[in-house]
Formats: sequence, C-alpha cells, structure tokens
Amino acid sequence: MPHKSTAHARPSTTGSTPASPGESTPFVQDVEALRRRARENMECGAITQSYGADRQAVVDVLNAALATELVCVLRYKRHYFMAQGIASESVKSEFLEHANEEQGHADKLCERIVQLGGEPDLDPQTLSARSHSQYVEGKDLVDMIREDLVAERIAIDSYREIVQWLADRDPTSRRVMEEILANEEEHAEDLGSMLQGMGLAGVDASASGSRPSTGNGSTAR
Ligand SMILES: [Fe+2]
Ligand SMILES: [Fe+2]
Repeated sequence: MPHKSTAHARPSTTGSTPASPGESTPFVQDVEALRRRARENMECGAITQSYGADRQAVVDVLNAALATELVCVLRYKRHYFMAQGIASESVKSEFLEHANEEQGHADKLCERIVQLGGEPDLDPQTLSARSHSQYVEGKDLVDMIREDLVAERIAIDSYREIVQWLADRDPTSRRVMEEILANEEEHAEDLGSMLQGMGLAGVDASASGSRPSTGNGSTAR
C-alpha cells in the first residue's frame, strides 16, 4: 500500500485556512493570521476569537454547578459532624473526604469562571435555589447516606447534560466538568457500597430526595 504522506504532515506556516479534521487531510494553519488575531482584543485574556461557545451562557451554567457543589459541601459537613452510632467512624471519614473533594470541585469551577471573564456567584442568600442538589439533613446515618447518594445522582445527571451541551465549543470547560463528573460517579459508588455493606438497598422512589421537579431546572424543596 502506498504511504499516505499527508496523514502525518506537520502544521504548515504558510497555508491560509485550517482544514477540516480527516484521516488523510493535512493540518494546515495560517500562522500569520493566528499571530495577528492574538494581538487583537487582548483584554479578553484566554478567550480568543475562535472560542466557540456563548461565554455568558457557559459562565451561568458553571455557576449553577458551583452552587450545586457548595450545597454538597455544606450537606456533607453537616453529615460529618452529626453522624453517630455503630459504623459511624468509617462513614464519617467518607463524608469528610467527600466534603473536601466537593470543595475542590467548587474551586475548579471558580477558577474556570474567572478565566472566562465571569464572576463566581457565592451569594449564600440564593445558593440553595440555584443548586441542583438539595440540602437534606437526614434523620439518621442511613438516611444521610441515602440523601448523599440522591444528591450525587442529581449531580451526575446534571453534569452529564452540561458536558454534552458544551461539546466541542468549549473543550476546557467540558474537561473541567468531565473530571468533576467522574469524581461524582466515584462518590455515588462509595455511597452505594456503604448502603450495601449495611445490608440496605440504594434509593427507592419514596426517598425524600426524590421530590418532583419544579420544571425550571431546580428541584422542589
Ligand atoms: Fe462535586
Ligand atoms: Fe460528589
């Protein structure tokens, strides 16, 4: 078979228009145009002309994820300090670990929001209404674990939708959300294993966190 010399062609420094991705399409860039555009609108920082998404819409979506994370931090902290009874020590340490990781997610979202030229919304007065997951105190250890699992499952669905919505228009924000999503899936697995270890099923439809949606993207509380 003849060697496809164009498949691994290096970026050209003289071409005019970037070509579409394709197995045998050479990667061609207009470097002069890249250099010229980089000097325009420099006040936009990391946001260049080729940014493919609606920047404000992405900031708003990331702020909703930020509110979700902060509510999760508060709920896990409450559960950490209030967990009592047999088996509570190992569960407590899991609650604390999750709380710290949710805080890490919140910090990553804040960083990305600022990178996009937005402002992280940390207003405590509107936090609960803007969060997708809920702040449920839980009446005992099992109830706390169940509520945390419900919250993780809400976050997983919400973040998966955000990843799909971002698609290729903002790969950096998408990667941030993908990393957080993977961590939420680990959290949900941890909580499910805890319930199984206690000989309990996961979450059924009557669990208090499974309340009907208000239809505006927020969950009824
Ligand atoms: Fe999180
Ligand atoms: Fe989580």
